[in-house]
Amino acid sequence: MDAELLLAHVLGIPRARLLTLDEVDDDAASRFEVLLGQRADRVPLQHLTGHAPFRFLELAVGPGVFVPRPETELLVGWALEQLSGVAEPLVVDLGSGSGAIALSIASEHPGARVIAVERDTGAIEWTRHNARARAEAGDTPVEVVAGDMTDPRLLAELDGGVDLVVSNPPYVPDGARVPREVADHDPPLALWGGPDGLDVVRGLVGTAARLLRQEGSLGIEHADQQGGAVPAVVRASGGWTDVRDHPDLAGRPRFTTARRL
Ligand SMILES: C[S@@+](CC[C@H](N)C(=O)[O-])C[C@H]1O[C@@H](n2cnc3c(N)ncnc32)[C@H](O)[C@@H]1O
Repeated sequence: MDAELLLAHVLGIPRARLLTLDEVDDDAASRFEVLLGQRADRVPLQHLTGHAPFRFLELAVGPGVFVPRPETELLVGWALEQLSGVAEPLVVDLGSGSGAIALSIASEHPGARVIAVERDTGAIEWTRHNARARAEAGDTPVEVVAGDMTDPRLLAELDGGVDLVVSNPPYVPDGARVPREVADHDPPLALWGGPDGLDVVRGLVGTAARLLRQEGSLGIEHADQQGGAVPAVVRASGGWTDVRDHPDLAGRPRFTTARRL
C-alpha cells in the first residue's frame, strides 16, 4: 500500500490510476526508489508525501509536527455531535499540532469560532500554515494561539464561556516502546506524558473546567490502556457529570468525554 501511494505521489496521479499505467520513466523510477528506501528506513509515509488525510481535509505535515491518526477522526465526530443545534459555538482545541481537530471542526461546523492552542514552537508553524490554507480555501478561519494547555491563565478571558474543549494530548508513558516511525519522527512534546502518561491530561482537565460553560463538553483522546485512568482523573477533579469512555472502531478504549456541572 505504501509503495503504491509513493509511486502515485511521484507520478502526481491518484493511486487507482496505477492500474492502467503502462510505463514509468527513468526519472520517476529513480525518485520512487529513493522514497522507497526512506520508507523502508521507517520515515513515515506522510513525511515523504508531505500531507496526511484527516476526515475531509488534506493537511500539510513533515518534520516537527505530529502526524494526525485516523483514530482521532472519531473524537472529532463526537465533538461535532455535541455542537449540532448550536449555531455559533465557541470551541477550544488544546494541543493542535497540524490543526487536524480544530480545522475539521471549523470546516464541518462553519458557524463555530475555533481556537487552536499549541505550545511547541516548531509544531505551531504547521498549525498556522494549515490554518492559513484552510481559510484561503474558504473555511471559517481558526485562531491559532501559542500557549500551554496546563497554564492556569491560558485564555482566561474566555473563562466559563466555552461550549466545547477537545484535546488529543501527549499521553504515552515515559519509556514506553513505540515504533521507529513514532520515536524518531513524531516530536517528543507530542508523545510523552510522564511516568503514567497522564501528566498533561491532569493539567488540561483543570483548564477545561475553568474554560467551559455550565453543561459544556470535554473530549480527551487517550491510549488504549487508559480507558479507566482518564475517566478517573476527570471524576477526581470534581464538577463533572456524564463521564464516560468511548471505544474506537477496533473496540479499544480511545477517548473520554464529560459534561461540566
Ligand atoms: C498527540 S499530538 C496531537 C496533535 C493534533 N491535535 C492531532 O490530533 O493530530 C499532541 C500535541 O499537543 C502539543 N502539546 C504538548 N504539550 C502541550 C501543552 N502543555 N500545551 C499545549 N500544547 C501541547 C504537542 O506539541 C502536540 O502538537
